[in-house]
Amino acid sequence: MSCRSSASFWKSHVLVAVTLYLAIVDATATCTVDTPDSIPPGYTSYLQKDASVNLYYVRRDNATGPTVVLLHGWPQNWASWYRVMRLFPSSYDVIAVNLRGVSPSNAPSTGYTKAIMARDIRALLNSLNLRKVHLVGHDIGGMVSYAFAVQYPKRALSLTIIDVPLPGTPAFDQVNVDPRAWHFGFNAAKEFPEALTTGRESFFYSKFMRELSGGPDALTPQEIRVSVNAYSVPSTAHAGFEWYRAFAQDAEDNKEFAEREKLTLPVLALTGSILSPEPYVFFMMQDLAKNVSGHSIDSGHFIPEEAPEQLVKLVTAFLPK
Ligand SMILES: *[C@@H]1O[C@H](CO)[C@@H](O)[C@H](O)[C@H]1NC(C)=O
Ligand SMILES: *[C@@H]1O[C@H](CO)[C@@H](O)[C@H](O)[C@H]1NC(C)=O
Repeated sequence: MSCRSSASFWKSHVLVAVTLYLAIVDATATCTVDTPDSIPPGYTSYLQKDASVNLYYVRRDNATGPTVVLLHGWPQNWASWYRVMRLFPSSYDVIAVNLRGVSPSNAPSTGYTKAIMARDIRALLNSLNLRKVHLVGHDIGGMVSYAFAVQYPKRALSLTIIDVPLPGTPAFDQVNVDPRAWHFGFNAAKEFPEALTTGRESFFYSKFMRELSGGPDALTPQEIRVSVNAYSVPSTAHAGFEWYRAFAQDAEDNKEFAEREKLTLPVLALTGSILSPEPYVFFMMQDLAKNVSGHSIDSGHFIPEEAPEQLVKLVTAFLPK
Protein backbone atom coordinates (compact mmCIF):
# COMPACT_ATOMS: atom_id res chain seq x y z
CA MET A 1 0.00 0.00 0.00
CA SER A 2 1.55 3.30 -1.04
CA CYS A 3 1.66 6.40 1.14
CA ARG A 4 -0.41 8.42 -1.31
CA SER A 5 -3.23 5.91 -1.52
CA SER A 6 -3.26 4.51 1.99
CA ALA A 7 -5.69 7.01 3.44
CA SER A 8 -7.99 7.16 0.46
CA PHE A 9 -10.62 5.07 2.20
CA TRP A 10 -11.31 7.83 4.66
CA LYS A 11 -15.03 8.54 4.66
CA SER A 12 -15.53 9.71 8.25
CA HIS A 13 -17.44 6.57 9.17
CA VAL A 14 -16.33 4.49 12.10
CA LEU A 15 -15.62 1.32 10.15
CA VAL A 16 -13.68 3.27 7.61
CA ALA A 17 -11.88 5.11 10.39
CA VAL A 18 -10.61 1.76 11.61
CA THR A 19 -9.32 1.07 8.13
CA LEU A 20 -7.63 4.46 8.12
CA TYR A 21 -6.08 3.80 11.50
CA LEU A 22 -4.70 0.52 10.22
CA ALA A 23 -3.51 2.27 7.08
CA ILE A 24 -1.67 4.86 9.16
CA VAL A 25 -0.05 2.17 11.27
CA ASP A 26 0.89 0.44 8.04
CA ALA A 27 2.27 3.59 6.43
CA THR A 28 4.12 5.22 9.28
CA ALA A 29 6.93 2.70 8.98
CA THR A 30 8.13 4.50 5.86
CA CYS A 31 6.32 7.81 5.59
CA THR A 32 3.50 9.90 7.02
CA VAL A 33 0.02 9.81 5.56
CA ASP A 34 -0.56 13.05 3.73
CA THR A 35 -3.37 12.88 1.23
CA PRO A 36 -6.02 15.54 0.68
CA ASP A 37 -8.82 13.32 2.01
CA SER A 38 -7.22 12.46 5.34
CA ILE A 39 -7.66 14.83 8.27
CA PRO A 40 -4.55 17.04 8.32
CA PRO A 41 -2.17 16.58 11.26
CA GLY A 42 -3.14 18.88 14.12
CA TYR A 43 -6.82 18.92 13.10
CA THR A 44 -9.88 16.93 14.22
CA SER A 45 -13.21 16.33 12.46
CA TYR A 46 -16.60 16.83 14.10
CA LEU A 47 -20.28 16.54 13.28
CA GLN A 48 -22.40 19.29 14.82
CA LYS A 49 -25.23 17.95 16.97
CA ASP A 50 -27.42 20.83 18.13
CA ALA A 51 -28.76 22.48 14.97
CA SER A 52 -31.69 21.85 12.62
CA VAL A 53 -29.08 21.31 9.90
CA ASN A 54 -25.94 19.83 11.41
CA LEU A 55 -22.68 20.51 9.65
CA TYR A 56 -19.49 18.48 9.43
CA TYR A 57 -16.31 20.45 10.08
CA VAL A 58 -12.58 20.01 10.56
CA ARG A 59 -10.98 22.27 13.13
CA ARG A 60 -7.48 22.95 14.31
CA ASP A 61 -6.72 21.32 17.67
CA ASN A 62 -6.12 23.46 20.74
CA ALA A 63 -7.15 26.47 18.76
CA THR A 64 -6.26 29.92 20.00
CA GLY A 65 -6.18 33.19 18.11
CA PRO A 66 -8.65 34.58 15.59
CA THR A 67 -10.99 32.15 13.86
CA VAL A 68 -10.82 31.71 10.09
CA VAL A 69 -13.78 29.87 8.50
CA LEU A 70 -13.04 28.21 5.16
CA LEU A 71 -16.02 27.53 2.86
CA HIS A 72 -15.57 25.34 -0.21
CA GLY A 73 -17.08 25.42 -3.68
CA TRP A 74 -18.67 22.97 -6.12
CA PRO A 75 -18.00 20.07 -6.63
CA GLN A 76 -15.91 20.04 -3.50
CA ASN A 77 -15.86 19.67 0.27
CA TRP A 78 -13.71 20.78 3.23
CA ALA A 79 -10.76 18.84 1.79
CA SER A 80 -10.29 21.39 -1.00
CA TRP A 81 -8.57 23.42 1.73
CA TYR A 82 -6.22 20.61 2.75
CA ARG A 83 -3.01 22.35 1.71
CA VAL A 84 -4.23 25.73 2.94
CA MET A 85 -5.01 24.20 6.34
CA ARG A 86 -1.52 22.74 6.57
CA LEU A 87 0.11 26.04 5.58
CA PHE A 88 -2.03 28.40 7.66
CA PRO A 89 -0.05 29.82 10.62
CA SER A 90 -0.81 28.02 13.90
CA SER A 91 -1.67 31.38 15.48
CA TYR A 92 -5.12 31.05 13.82
CA ASP A 93 -8.08 28.88 14.75
CA VAL A 94 -8.89 27.36 11.36
CA ILE A 95 -12.24 25.67 10.65
CA ALA A 96 -13.15 24.08 7.29
CA VAL A 97 -16.84 23.24 6.94
CA ASN A 98 -18.84 20.96 4.63
CA LEU A 99 -21.69 23.15 3.37
CA ARG A 100 -25.35 22.11 3.73
CA GLY A 101 -25.93 19.04 1.58
CA VAL A 102 -22.35 17.75 1.48
CA SER A 103 -22.20 14.47 3.38
CA PRO A 104 -21.79 13.96 6.30
CA SER A 105 -23.34 17.44 6.76
CA ASN A 106 -27.13 17.13 6.70
CA ALA A 107 -28.88 17.37 3.32
CA PRO A 108 -32.41 18.70 3.91
CA SER A 109 -34.77 18.78 0.94
CA THR A 110 -34.90 22.59 0.80
CA GLY A 111 -32.92 25.64 1.83
CA TYR A 112 -30.13 25.90 -0.72
CA THR A 113 -30.12 29.66 -1.15
CA LYS A 114 -26.85 31.16 -0.02
CA ALA A 115 -28.67 33.34 2.52
CA ILE A 116 -29.99 30.20 4.23
CA MET A 117 -26.67 28.39 3.91
CA ALA A 118 -25.02 31.37 5.66
CA ARG A 119 -27.52 30.87 8.50
CA ASP A 120 -26.16 27.34 8.92
CA ILE A 121 -22.70 28.80 9.40
CA ARG A 122 -24.00 31.23 12.00
CA ALA A 123 -25.68 28.36 13.87
CA LEU A 124 -22.41 26.42 13.85
CA LEU A 125 -20.47 29.42 15.18
CA ASN A 126 -23.11 29.91 17.87
CA SER A 127 -22.75 26.31 18.97
CA LEU A 128 -18.96 26.75 19.13
CA ASN A 129 -19.35 29.99 21.08
CA LEU A 130 -17.53 31.93 18.39
CA ARG A 131 -18.69 35.50 18.05
CA LYS A 132 -16.58 37.08 15.32
CA VAL A 133 -14.75 35.32 12.51
CA HIS A 134 -12.80 35.89 9.33
CA LEU A 135 -14.54 34.35 6.31
CA VAL A 136 -12.70 32.82 3.39
CA GLY A 137 -14.90 31.40 0.65
CA HIS A 138 -14.16 29.90 -2.75
CA ASP A 139 -16.78 29.53 -5.50
CA ILE A 140 -20.19 28.62 -3.94
CA GLY A 141 -18.49 29.06 -0.55
CA GLY A 142 -17.66 32.63 -1.62
CA MET A 143 -21.36 33.27 -2.25
CA VAL A 144 -22.16 31.91 1.21
CA SER A 145 -19.38 34.00 2.81
CA TYR A 146 -20.78 37.15 1.21
CA ALA A 147 -24.30 36.25 2.36
CA PHE A 148 -22.92 35.78 5.89
CA ALA A 149 -21.04 39.10 5.92
CA VAL A 150 -23.97 41.07 4.56
CA GLN A 151 -26.59 39.48 6.86
CA TYR A 152 -24.47 39.35 10.03
CA PRO A 153 -22.03 42.26 9.75
CA LYS A 154 -21.37 42.18 13.50
CA ARG A 155 -20.14 38.60 13.28
CA ALA A 156 -17.72 39.07 10.36
CA LEU A 157 -14.24 40.54 10.82
CA SER A 158 -13.21 40.25 7.18
CA LEU A 159 -14.26 38.62 3.92
CA THR A 160 -11.98 36.89 1.43
CA ILE A 161 -13.88 35.94 -1.71
CA ILE A 162 -12.17 33.72 -4.25
CA ASP A 163 -12.96 33.37 -7.96
CA VAL A 164 -16.72 33.59 -8.03
CA PRO A 165 -19.33 35.97 -9.45
CA LEU A 166 -22.25 36.73 -7.12
CA PRO A 167 -25.75 36.16 -8.60
CA GLY A 168 -27.50 39.48 -9.21
CA THR A 169 -24.33 41.36 -10.19
CA PRO A 170 -23.19 42.41 -13.69
CA ALA A 171 -20.13 40.15 -13.17
CA PHE A 172 -22.43 37.16 -12.81
CA ASP A 173 -24.41 38.04 -15.92
CA GLN A 174 -21.15 38.24 -17.83
CA VAL A 175 -19.81 34.89 -16.58
CA ASN A 176 -23.23 33.31 -17.12
CA VAL A 177 -22.96 33.70 -20.90
CA ASP A 178 -19.38 32.42 -21.06
CA PRO A 179 -19.45 28.94 -22.68
CA ARG A 180 -17.04 27.72 -19.97
CA ALA A 181 -19.84 28.32 -17.45
CA TRP A 182 -22.18 25.90 -19.28
CA HIS A 183 -22.68 24.09 -15.97
CA PHE A 184 -24.59 27.11 -14.55
CA GLY A 185 -27.46 26.15 -16.85
CA PHE A 186 -26.95 22.39 -16.80
CA ASN A 187 -26.77 22.07 -13.01
CA ALA A 188 -29.82 24.28 -12.53
CA ALA A 189 -32.04 22.20 -14.84
CA LYS A 190 -34.66 20.07 -13.11
CA GLU A 191 -33.95 16.31 -13.02
CA PHE A 192 -31.55 16.27 -15.99
CA PRO A 193 -28.27 16.55 -14.09
CA GLU A 194 -29.13 13.80 -11.58
CA ALA A 195 -30.40 11.52 -14.36
CA LEU A 196 -27.41 12.09 -16.63
CA THR A 197 -24.55 12.04 -14.10
CA THR A 198 -25.54 9.15 -11.82
CA GLY A 199 -23.08 6.36 -12.54
CA ARG A 200 -20.95 8.80 -14.56
CA GLU A 201 -19.57 10.78 -11.61
CA SER A 202 -15.98 9.98 -12.42
CA PHE A 203 -16.22 11.38 -15.95
CA PHE A 204 -18.42 14.35 -15.04
CA TYR A 205 -16.60 15.69 -12.00
CA SER A 206 -13.05 14.91 -13.17
CA LYS A 207 -13.52 16.44 -16.58
CA PHE A 208 -15.21 19.48 -15.10
CA MET A 209 -12.36 20.05 -12.64
CA ARG A 210 -9.64 19.48 -15.23
CA GLU A 211 -11.26 21.99 -17.61
CA LEU A 212 -11.51 24.75 -15.03
CA SER A 213 -8.07 24.21 -13.54
CA GLY A 214 -4.96 25.91 -14.85
CA GLY A 215 -3.64 22.98 -16.89
CA PRO A 216 -3.73 19.21 -17.26
CA ASP A 217 -1.60 18.65 -14.13
CA ALA A 218 -2.74 21.62 -12.05
CA LEU A 219 -4.77 19.32 -9.80
CA THR A 220 -3.44 16.00 -8.55
CA PRO A 221 -5.39 12.78 -9.24
CA GLN A 222 -5.97 12.56 -5.46
CA GLU A 223 -7.53 16.04 -5.38
CA ILE A 224 -9.92 15.10 -8.18
CA ARG A 225 -10.71 11.74 -6.57
CA VAL A 226 -11.80 13.50 -3.37
CA SER A 227 -14.50 15.32 -5.34
CA VAL A 228 -15.58 12.26 -7.34
CA ASN A 229 -15.94 10.26 -4.11
CA ALA A 230 -17.78 13.04 -2.29
CA TYR A 231 -20.24 13.65 -5.14
CA SER A 232 -20.84 9.96 -5.80
CA VAL A 233 -23.09 10.18 -2.74
CA PRO A 234 -26.50 10.87 -4.41
CA SER A 235 -27.70 13.30 -1.71
CA THR A 236 -24.48 15.33 -2.07
CA ALA A 237 -24.73 15.42 -5.87
CA HIS A 238 -28.39 16.51 -5.63
CA ALA A 239 -27.56 19.23 -3.09
CA GLY A 240 -24.78 20.50 -5.35
CA PHE A 241 -27.30 20.94 -8.16
CA GLU A 242 -29.75 22.60 -5.75
CA TRP A 243 -27.12 25.30 -5.09
CA TYR A 244 -27.36 26.23 -8.78
CA ARG A 245 -31.15 25.95 -8.87
CA ALA A 246 -31.23 28.59 -6.12
CA PHE A 247 -29.25 31.18 -8.15
CA ALA A 248 -32.41 33.01 -9.28
CA GLN A 249 -33.45 33.52 -5.64
CA ASP A 250 -29.84 34.35 -4.69
CA ALA A 251 -29.87 37.07 -7.36
CA GLU A 252 -32.99 38.61 -5.83
CA ASP A 253 -31.51 38.38 -2.33
CA ASN A 254 -28.21 39.90 -3.44
CA LYS A 255 -29.93 42.78 -5.23
CA GLU A 256 -31.76 43.54 -2.01
CA PHE A 257 -28.52 43.28 0.01
CA ALA A 258 -26.78 45.62 -2.45
CA GLU A 259 -29.39 48.31 -1.83
CA ARG A 260 -28.30 48.49 1.81
CA GLU A 261 -25.22 50.39 2.90
CA LYS A 262 -22.00 49.02 1.43
CA LEU A 263 -20.09 46.47 3.50
CA THR A 264 -17.58 48.20 5.76
CA LEU A 265 -15.45 45.21 6.73
CA PRO A 266 -12.17 44.66 4.84
CA VAL A 267 -12.67 42.58 1.68
CA LEU A 268 -10.00 40.68 -0.20
CA ALA A 269 -11.10 39.79 -3.74
CA LEU A 270 -9.08 37.13 -5.53
CA THR A 271 -9.27 36.01 -9.16
CA GLY A 272 -7.53 33.13 -10.94
CA SER A 273 -5.80 34.81 -13.86
CA ILE A 274 -5.42 31.80 -16.15
CA LEU A 275 -9.15 31.61 -16.94
CA SER A 276 -10.02 35.23 -16.08
CA PRO A 277 -7.42 37.79 -17.19
CA GLU A 278 -9.59 40.62 -15.77
CA PRO A 279 -9.75 40.82 -11.95
CA TYR A 280 -13.55 40.59 -12.12
CA VAL A 281 -13.99 39.68 -8.44
CA PHE A 282 -12.25 42.92 -7.43
CA PHE A 283 -14.44 45.06 -9.73
CA MET A 284 -17.57 43.28 -8.52
CA MET A 285 -16.76 43.74 -4.82
CA GLN A 286 -15.97 47.43 -5.29
CA ASP A 287 -19.68 47.94 -5.97
CA LEU A 288 -20.61 46.09 -2.77
CA ALA A 289 -18.00 47.09 -0.20
CA LYS A 290 -16.03 50.18 0.84
CA ASN A 291 -12.66 48.64 1.67
CA VAL A 292 -11.67 46.21 -1.06
CA SER A 293 -8.25 45.02 -2.05
CA GLY A 294 -7.79 42.71 -4.98
CA HIS A 295 -5.23 40.39 -6.47
CA SER A 296 -4.95 38.08 -9.42
CA ILE A 297 -3.29 34.76 -8.77
CA ASP A 298 -1.56 32.79 -11.49
CA SER A 299 -3.92 29.83 -11.21
CA GLY A 300 -6.96 28.22 -12.73
CA HIS A 301 -10.26 28.27 -10.84
CA PHE A 302 -9.14 25.92 -8.04
CA ILE A 303 -6.88 28.41 -6.25
CA PRO A 304 -6.90 26.67 -2.83
CA GLU A 305 -5.34 23.56 -4.40
CA GLU A 306 -3.44 25.13 -7.30
CA ALA A 307 -1.78 28.04 -5.47
CA PRO A 308 -2.05 27.38 -1.72
CA GLU A 309 1.23 29.10 -0.76
CA GLN A 310 0.33 32.30 -2.55
CA LEU A 311 -3.21 32.19 -1.20
CA VAL A 312 -2.12 31.77 2.42
CA LYS A 313 0.47 34.51 2.01
CA LEU A 314 -2.09 36.97 0.61
CA VAL A 315 -4.76 36.12 3.17
CA THR A 316 -2.48 36.30 6.22
CA ALA A 317 -1.00 39.59 5.01
CA PHE A 318 -4.55 40.94 4.57
CA LEU A 319 -6.13 39.75 7.83
CA PRO A 320 -6.37 42.72 10.20
CA LYS A 321 -4.02 42.13 13.11
C1 LIG B 1 -4.86 19.38 22.14
O1 LIG B 1 -6.16 18.90 21.82
C2 LIG B 1 -6.29 17.50 21.85
C3 LIG B 1 -7.64 17.14 21.29
O2 LIG B 1 -8.66 17.99 21.75
C4 LIG B 1 -6.04 17.03 23.28
O3 LIG B 1 -6.17 15.62 23.36
C5 LIG B 1 -4.64 17.46 23.69
O4 LIG B 1 -4.42 17.14 25.05
C6 LIG B 1 -4.44 18.95 23.52
N1 LIG B 1 -3.03 19.29 23.70
C7 LIG B 1 -2.65 20.34 24.43
C8 LIG B 1 -1.17 20.58 24.48
O5 LIG B 1 -3.43 21.06 25.01
C1 LIG C 1 -9.21 48.51 5.21
O1 LIG C 1 -8.83 47.20 5.57
C2 LIG C 1 -7.50 47.09 6.02
C3 LIG C 1 -7.24 45.62 6.28
O2 LIG C 1 -7.14 44.93 5.09
C4 LIG C 1 -7.28 47.92 7.25
O3 LIG C 1 -5.94 47.83 7.64
C5 LIG C 1 -7.67 49.36 6.96
O4 LIG C 1 -7.59 50.10 8.15
C6 LIG C 1 -9.08 49.42 6.41
N1 LIG C 1 -9.37 50.79 6.00
C7 LIG C 1 -10.46 51.44 6.40
C8 LIG C 1 -10.62 52.81 5.85
O5 LIG C 1 -11.29 50.93 7.14
